[in-house]
Amino acid sequence: MAYFLKPQYHFSPMIGWLNDPNGLIEFKEQYHLFYQFNPNSPNWGKMHWGHAVSKDLFHWMHLPVALYPEKSLSEKDYSGIFSGSAIEKDEQLVLMYTQYFDPDIFNNRFKEEQCIAFSKDGVNFEKHKGNPVIAKPPNQLFHDYRDPKIFKVSSNEYYCVIGAGENGIGKVLLYTSKDLYNWHFENVLCEFNPDCFGPVIECPDFFQLNGKWVILFSAGFTEKGKRKNYYAIGDFIGNKFLPDCIESLDLANDLYATQTFQDKNNRRIAIGWLHTPDRNNYSVDEGWAGIMSIPKELSIKDNRLIQQPVKEFQKLIMEKTDNDKTLSSDRTLDISSLQNLIYLSIQNLSEGFQIVFVNKKDELILDKSMDSFEITELRNGTIEFKDAYKLENTLDKLDVYMDKTSIEIFFNNGEKVASFRTYPRDNYKKLIVNPFPKKSFSIFQVQPAFNCLL
Ligand code: FRU
Repeated sequence: MAYFLKPQYHFSPMIGWLNDPNGLIEFKEQYHLFYQFNPNSPNWGKMHWGHAVSKDLFHWMHLPVALYPEKSLSEKDYSGIFSGSAIEKDEQLVLMYTQYFDPDIFNNRFKEEQCIAFSKDGVNFEKHKGNPVIAKPPNQLFHDYRDPKIFKVSSNEYYCVIGAGENGIGKVLLYTSKDLYNWHFENVLCEFNPDCFGPVIECPDFFQLNGKWVILFSAGFTEKGKRKNYYAIGDFIGNKFLPDCIESLDLANDLYATQTFQDKNNRRIAIGWLHTPDRNNYSVDEGWAGIMSIPKELSIKDNRLIQQPVKEFQKLIMEKTDNDKTLSSDRTLDISSLQNLIYLSIQNLSEGFQIVFVNKKDELILDKSMDSFEITELRNGTIEFKDAYKLENTLDKLDVYMDKTSIEIFFNNGEKVASFRTYPRDNYKKLIVNPFPKKSFSIFQVQPAFNCLL
């Protein structure tokens, strides 16, 4: 099997299906990435926790599955290990996750329990014998009660936020604990308008950043059927989160379930799942699906979240293409040697411009007009995907990261981001930039990092 669509500097599963990032942590000088994983098929199914480690957030080494689901009671039993998070305690790596019981098989119990597992070496994990540590939600009306995100407040005080729905409203629940075994429900931390965010909140993450409190959350059951990742910035007063603003984390619709962690250098790093929710996912034919976003460092400026690829990315940039030599007479750039591993940076942008990636059969068009930015993917001249975003501020800088089947566009140094998947059938050969901003235009090949051993 040839893996033409596999990313080379984004994390993806060796085989099978990947969704949410789980348990992100720096433990014993390694970054750990766990993830929702179905090793048995390129489709969602019985969930395991896949596991990988890295020293630089790009060169990942696959490790054995960290958490296996219990044995199935029937072929249709989708009970498994749902999303969660990690924390270090007494030199152990502790995972907190949701044990999901398929309601079609287990119809007389709560379908979700919160559990923990331990590891001394960060490779082999043992589920706690006294699981679950939280057996059920605070009352019977809560449903879709999952995705615990833990954080430490002081040496013996832990908080945990859990996503849920109640009475048609998506809510985030707040728990506290002194030892990770005994948890106390404090209150509903916050809830979100169901007309915009639907009746369930998934994968909440709650942290302090630059003196404010930030919540990231995913809304998966909105009326329009879109699954989208959001953030809110605000204050945390009397165990309640009071948002000043709620914004999309990403302009496009392919990013979901972003989780963050703080590394030993006090950086708040975010990784999300990049999928293809509403169109054909061609990588299924290669036996795999789902990739992680580029790891991004978060900060706050003017009460808005700024996202920028972590600085380790700089080490992957290979020699700059000499634009003067590769620019042909029709002002197109020959990019055939870049193999769709591309970092493109443009400054001093004119009000309107177009960037077109071309191979024999496909085109990817990024089109900026007055205040909107349009993305079109063409397969044999037919529109495969089209999306448009309104830009509030003048666009001064554009950074584009392409890795085989993903494009992440950072506007004005991460003021806004649009991340999406595309499935070109060949490497792009030509790049047309119109008008061509000669002075402030750089294009680089990105060095492959995928699956390297440490
Ligand atoms: C989000 C999600 C989580 C759940 C997991 C199951 O994508 O639905 O709420 O824990 O995926 O794979």
